[in-house]
Amino acid sequence: MSFFSELKLISPSIGAEINNVDLKKVEGNAINELKDLLSRHKVLFFPNQKISIEDHVAFGEKFGELQGHPHINNPNIKHAKIFELAASSGGIADEWHTDLTFQEQPALLSILHMVELPEVGGDTLWTDLVAAFKALSKPIQDMCMELSALHDASPHLHPEKMTIHPVVRKHPDTNEPVLYVNEHFTRRIVEFAHEESEHFLKFLTSWVQKPEFSLRYKWQKHTVAMWDNRSTQHYVVNNFEGERIIQRVTVTGDKIEPYKQSSYQAWNANGKFSAKSRYDFQLMGYLDSIFKEKN
Ligand SMILES: [Fe+2]
Repeated sequence: MSFFSELKLISPSIGAEINNVDLKKVEGNAINELKDLLSRHKVLFFPNQKISIEDHVAFGEKFGELQGHPHINNPNIKHAKIFELAASSGGIADEWHTDLTFQEQPALLSILHMVELPEVGGDTLWTDLVAAFKALSKPIQDMCMELSALHDASPHLHPEKMTIHPVVRKHPDTNEPVLYVNEHFTRRIVEFAHEESEHFLKFLTSWVQKPEFSLRYKWQKHTVAMWDNRSTQHYVVNNFEGERIIQRVTVTGDKIEPYKQSSYQAWNANGKFSAKSRYDFQLMGYLDSIFKEKN
């Protein structure tokens, strides 16, 4: 028997809205069911939640250890585990991204409470990175599985924070391949020359934005959303006037596994320096630092 019988799909592969639930009272086996529903539908919405900051944190902690935001301070409240974004303080995430992919183990899932919203506008879109991978042709899929990509925190003014992830990761719960590059944090395909990387990344990061893989959600005040940060990206539509405040808790991530081990080495310009070498400095510098760390 399901604890969540009032579930309505928003699109075939991504998004479900669940009504008549009080998240303050969800525990035990119902939490396990929510984990399964989240792996399957990737984003879940719970309208009409009356939750305090403490309720929000307590609900989040049922899914794992919570982490604060590494770079952004809350504008209005002081709480180590709650991350607040207010549009009036520049908090509008209007570029497609998976949260915090410049970290080695980016957030596993996030739970967002819509606290304040404009009368109209400020919708959020999510896209399904499993469906996006599935829809690629087999030759492109095969190539993607051989690649990795450098991600950095330059959008947060911390370009020195970098890591490398596989372009296709294996979802730890479903074992499905996930197309894991985003326009906000992903800078470079590691195995490609700069020019190849620019074109191919542009293609992949645009591809995931197709309406076929995505949903657009129109919020109501006090709706809570939770998303699987391992298989989705999201985007806030910056088309509104007035205040929009969200509060979020983020569950610490797990280890990223590639769907397949690559047989290719990182791009190497063979020591040939030219005017274009500047495009390789970031990648080469990072690989060098990793090499020195290990030796
Ligand atoms: Fe985000």
